[in-house]
Amino acid sequence: MKKWKQKAIVQKAISFLPFSSKINYIFQKYVTKGVNLSDEYFYDRLGHAKEHIKGFKKHIKLTPKTCLEIGTGWYPIVPISFFLIGADIIYSVDISFLTSKKRLKTTLEMFVKANEKGQLIEYIDIIPEKYNNIISLLNNYDKYSLKEVLQNLNIVYLIEDAENLSLTDNSIDLVNSNNTFEHIYPNTLIPILKELRRIVNKQSGIMSHFIDMSDHFAHFDKSINIYNFLQYNDKQWKWIDNSIQPQSRSRFSDYKEIYSKLNIPISEESYRDGNIDELKSIKLAEKYIGNSIVETAISHCHLISVMSQIDN
Ligand SMILES: C[S@@+](CC[C@H](N)C(=O)[O-])C[C@H]1O[C@@H](n2cnc3c(N)ncnc32)[C@H](O)[C@@H]1O
Repeated sequence: MKKWKQKAIVQKAISFLPFSSKINYIFQKYVTKGVNLSDEYFYDRLGHAKEHIKGFKKHIKLTPKTCLEIGTGWYPIVPISFFLIGADIIYSVDISFLTSKKRLKTTLEMFVKANEKGQLIEYIDIIPEKYNNIISLLNNYDKYSLKEVLQNLNIVYLIEDAENLSLTDNSIDLVNSNNTFEHIYPNTLIPILKELRRIVNKQSGIMSHFIDMSDHFAHFDKSINIYNFLQYNDKQWKWIDNSIQPQSRSRFSDYKEIYSKLNIPISEESYRDGNIDELKSIKLAEKYIGNSIVETAISHCHLISVMSQIDN
């Protein structure tokens, strides 16, 4: 049996257990080795932080003071980047509390390593005083509780469903997400986007979302390509998919349609073309036939919404 199918079966079984996200972390750490903070992952998400900040500065001409990331996951690379450029308050929203004091330390150490190699500055304009705060935190790390570490980084963890946030209207300058929307099916993504539209500052705020539309099983099993999951119809996919790392399989055009229906502007879009030959090697399920092959092949995208451009 192919490796990805074995993983799908194990994750499906884990998804029925209590504490499924913790058990999945252990499974991924020791079996699939998918949760260690690699250089590749760190610099990829640092690249996302760079693009979020660049988008904000381009359209709003300032540094964001209040930021929010939906679905931060295990390593808060993007929130720490916002701290380093001078954000006053950074909300990190997730339905599960996935970080830990140890994982936070690992993340902070990666920032220090990147700075010592002279690479951090290529991504973000760090404020020296904020960087020194990180150094002194690390020097005395054991003395602080997790809560104190987060306070020192201006990070507020909200363990909430993004569909229903405890934040006031127009309160956030920069709302962002990283490789999260692809894990949320449209029937949930629509209310989430409405909620994000409510909390983002409509005069001087932006939303900036990175979406990875590739089959995530292909990241682990190189014998399949990133379009493998498009061969299954919805009924078959329901059996394969699991609730700990669901994959909606939505394509670029689906996200654009949702934005349009919700009257959320797409002020800037960028994407990776993908590989049409690889897509053509897959016998597509009926729901994907008839769509533009070029659009279906798009594997990753970044959507920026300047909220002052909303049509009234
Ligand atoms: C694959 S992870 C992405 C982690 C990280 N942002 C990254 O760049 O790798 C998706 C995250 O979204 C969170 N999530 C999914 N649905 C959510 C919801 N309705 N509200 C808040 N967080 C959610 C999950 O718990 C998970 O941590």
